[in-house]
Amino acid sequence: MGHLKLQAVTKTFGNVEVIRATDLTIEEGEFVVFVGPSGCGKSTMLRMIAGLEEISSGTIAIDGRVVNDIAPVERGIAMVFQSYALYPHMTVFENIAFPLRVAKLAKGEVDQRVRRAAELLKLSDRLEYKPGELSGGQRQRVAIGRAIVREPSVFLFDEPLSNLDAALRSEMRVELSRLHASLGNTMIYVTHDQIEAMTMATKIVVLRAGRVEQVGSPLELFHKPANRFVAGFIGNPTMNFIAAEGISSSAEGATVRLSTGLELKLPVNGSIESGEALELGIRPDDLVLGGADAQIEMTPEVVERLGNQSVVHGITKTDQPLCAVIGGDRPISPGRPTRLGFDVAKAHLFRNDGTALERRVDLQSLVAD
Ligand SMILES: Nc1ncnc2c1ncn2[C@@H]1O[C@H](COP(=O)(O)OP(=O)(O)O)[C@@H](O)[C@H]1O
Ligand SMILES: [Mg+2]
Repeated sequence: MGHLKLQAVTKTFGNVEVIRATDLTIEEGEFVVFVGPSGCGKSTMLRMIAGLEEISSGTIAIDGRVVNDIAPVERGIAMVFQSYALYPHMTVFENIAFPLRVAKLAKGEVDQRVRRAAELLKLSDRLEYKPGELSGGQRQRVAIGRAIVREPSVFLFDEPLSNLDAALRSEMRVELSRLHASLGNTMIYVTHDQIEAMTMATKIVVLRAGRVEQVGSPLELFHKPANRFVAGFIGNPTMNFIAAEGISSSAEGATVRLSTGLELKLPVNGSIESGEALELGIRPDDLVLGGADAQIEMTPEVVERLGNQSVVHGITKTDQPLCAVIGGDRPISPGRPTRLGFDVAKAHLFRNDGTALERRVDLQSLVAD
């Protein structure tokens, strides 16, 4: 239970196509995160799966049954919103029990399901409280409890943690991952926050302007982004991009010249033209002070000292912005030029149209335990 298949699904508001033809398969038990900037169509996608929004064309099937014309309550899904949508005059117990009352379940069954959900969500000692007497995190858990008791085959979450402060958000991320591990249901979670996507998802769907940019595991997206958009969106601080020009390509990879003058051979697949406009991508964490084989000169402008590491924002000699994350105990100060190195195997290369040349990275070896 909990298998989803979207085929050529589109959504048009007026004459604006906000979801382009989308094909997507979600396997039973997956934790899928739709991530992308505000307005890219995440909520619309989720609402179409829920049946709260009609689809303009295509089909959505849940567990092999096309649900295009099936009412939300009959789709076997439960949705949790950012605004918890709790009834303020009802107790926690009654809020969680609400969908079961509507479905006219027997009293004993209601009692049992609510108590089981409350236990899972650490709300057992709050059942007689009213929502107004709870913290934001507890209220969000009540909203999740109300979804759990319906025993859906698929959970849908729309930015459920956005109203919480940073500390509570990271706590709730862990709780949601635990919940997923213990329930085993399919979960689809929408967020604009790439950290939520990276930390909770088994599969991430990156959306941009109504189009799926890439689907993959968190590490696939991080190490093998299909294009510049995904590369820049996943990972924090965001990847550095440096203009480059193609020189030649061979079996060993592509040779390019950075705008800083540095010539490098990168281990990527695919051939490039001499003079081709390219961009090199390097993550701030992959830059090191001195050391490694490639050298870029940078003048630091702002140094953010986080203790365990320092985030350095500066510019290259050719005025390109550059960010580096270095050890918190390394010497660095604004205004004093410094040389940064990186391992060419860590670099990404993008064509003018944004597509990535495939890196020769063995993902298996990165995730082996
Ligand atoms: N009911 C609506 N009528 C017209 N346009 C809408 C409606 N709902 C959403 N949109 C538009 O569709 C696009 C996607 O919206 P949405 O799915 O809410 O984005 P996200 O959740 O990724 O921030 C936006 O441009 C938004 O303005
Ligand atoms: Mg939204």
